[in-house]
Amino acid sequence: MKTRKVGVIGLGHVGAHVAYSLAVQGIADELVLVDMKEQKLASEVQDLRDAAAYLPHRVSVNPGDFADLGDCDVIVNSVGKIELLETHDRLTEMDFTIAAVRGYVDKIKASGFDGVLINITNPCDIVTRELAMGLGLPKGRVFGTGTGLDTSRLLSALNRQTGIDHKSITAYMLGEHGALQFAPWSCVSFRGMPLDELAKTDEKFRFDRDALQKESIGGGWVTYAGKQCTEYGICTTAARMVHIVLHDEKAIMPASMELDGEYGETGLFAGVPCLIGKNGVEQIIELPLTDEEKAKFHDCCEGIRKNMEHLKDI
Ligand code: LAC
Repeated sequence: MKTRKVGVIGLGHVGAHVAYSLAVQGIADELVLVDMKEQKLASEVQDLRDAAAYLPHRVSVNPGDFADLGDCDVIVNSVGKIELLETHDRLTEMDFTIAAVRGYVDKIKASGFDGVLINITNPCDIVTRELAMGLGLPKGRVFGTGTGLDTSRLLSALNRQTGIDHKSITAYMLGEHGALQFAPWSCVSFRGMPLDELAKTDEKFRFDRDALQKESIGGGWVTYAGKQCTEYGICTTAARMVHIVLHDEKAIMPASMELDGEYGETGLFAGVPCLIGKNGVEQIIELPLTDEEKAKFHDCCEGIRKNMEHLKDI
C-alpha cells in the first residue's frame, strides 16, 4: 500500500506547526523535513518523534535534503524570515524569500519531484508563481495557501457575528494574500441562503461588512503582535489542503492559483475558489461577482502585478 509522504521545506514557526498538524491529524504517514539550519532541523525531527508514540496515527519523521523530496506526494514550502514581518508588510519578505526560492527550486526539480507543491511563503501569490515557473510541473500542481487562510479568518468572524457554524457558511476572501484582498459579499450564503436575503429579516445578518472584512485582513497582524508569528491558522489551512490532495477530495477551497483568463486576468497568481484534488488545483471556480466586486478583484491583481515588478530588482 502506498504511504502518504509529505515534505516540509522550512522548519520555522509555520513549517514546524505544519509538520505537527499533519502528524496530529494523521494526514501524513511519512514526513521529510528540510531546513538549512541543521540543529533546528534535528530538534524539530526529535520533538516530532517524541510525540509519535502517543499520536492516534503512526507517522515516521526524518530529516532530509532536497534530493530526498523526489518521491513525496506533496511538498509544503514554508521558508521565511519572520523578523522581516516587523514592517507589517509581507512584501518586505520578498527580497529574502524570492532569493531563497531561486536558490533551491532547481534542487527540488532535480529530485524528480512529480507531486503537488503547496506554498505558504510570502508574498504568497508571487512566491507561488516563482515556484511554479521554476518547477515546470503541469498547471495546478503548484498552488498557494493564499486567501485560503484569510477566508478562514472571515468564516470565524461570520461565525462569531451570526452564531452559524463555519462549515455552514460559504464565503471567500479573494485576490491578494495581503492588504488588497476583499470579501465579495454578494457570494456569501448560509447553506444556500444568501446573506442579502437573511439581512432583510434578521438583524444579526445586518452587520458592518467593512469592519468584518478589515478584521479578516488584519487578523494575521493581531496574532503577530503578541507572538511575533502566526502558526495555528496557517498550519491548519495548509494541512487541510494537503488532506484534500492526498484523498483526491475534489473539494472547493480558496487558494493562490495561476490565472489564465479566469476573472478576466492572466499572468499572475491570486486567491480564487479552486477545485482541488490529487492533481492539485484542477479547476478555478468563477463566482458571479457584481461589477463592483469584479473591479475590486482587478484592483487586487493590478496590485500584485505592481509588486511583481520588484522581481526585476532581486
Ligand atoms: C498569515 C501569514 C501566513 O497571514 O501570511 O498568517
